[in-house]
Amino acid sequence: MRRAIYPGSFDPITNGHLDIIERGCKLFDEIIVAILVNPNKQPLFSIEEREEILSEVLETINHHSCTILIEDFQGLLVQYAVKKNADVIVRGIRAVSDYEYELQMALMNRRLEPQIETVFMMPAEEYSYVSSRLVKEVFSLGGKIEGLVPSSVEKRMQLKIKRQK
Ligand code: PNS
Repeated sequence: MRRAIYPGSFDPITNGHLDIIERGCKLFDEIIVAILVNPNKQPLFSIEEREEILSEVLETINHHSCTILIEDFQGLLVQYAVKKNADVIVRGIRAVSDYEYELQMALMNRRLEPQIETVFMMPAEEYSYVSSRLVKEVFSLGGKIEGLVPSSVEKRMQLKIKRQK
């Protein structure tokens, strides 16, 4: 039984995140999608909203035979991973620019908890430039984000963000 944690801010979840979860489902028996509670950041969606959105959109993907759980966590990721008896931390890598920061985190996490492996996965090319930050910026400035996030996320963003056209 292989349990992975897929941590992130998911503010909001993008189609790139979903693609990674779907791919991860082929490798692991269980994936805990873990939302970081970060008191230093002003999120667009609250933790409760992000959990709600995640459970809505995760219904729409191919789970294979994998169980997907949604949780939130605070503090050190590796401490949370140990508490959850997870073997693996999954992170998506889009471009070389992601690599440096992700490598630093993976090595630091390995130093802290050597028994937990980080697995990097590549999303489909069409999502290789998609990030929650850019999606929010483009949307707020009146740009089209169709196909980059699930349509339910787009609808919720319409309610949240006043667009400048
Ligand atoms: O979606 P994000 O914002 O890129 O996710 C970053 C995340 C949540 C993976 C990272 O910030 C994290 O693990 N935070 C928890 C605190 C922690 O463990 N910090 C040390 C990392 S080496």
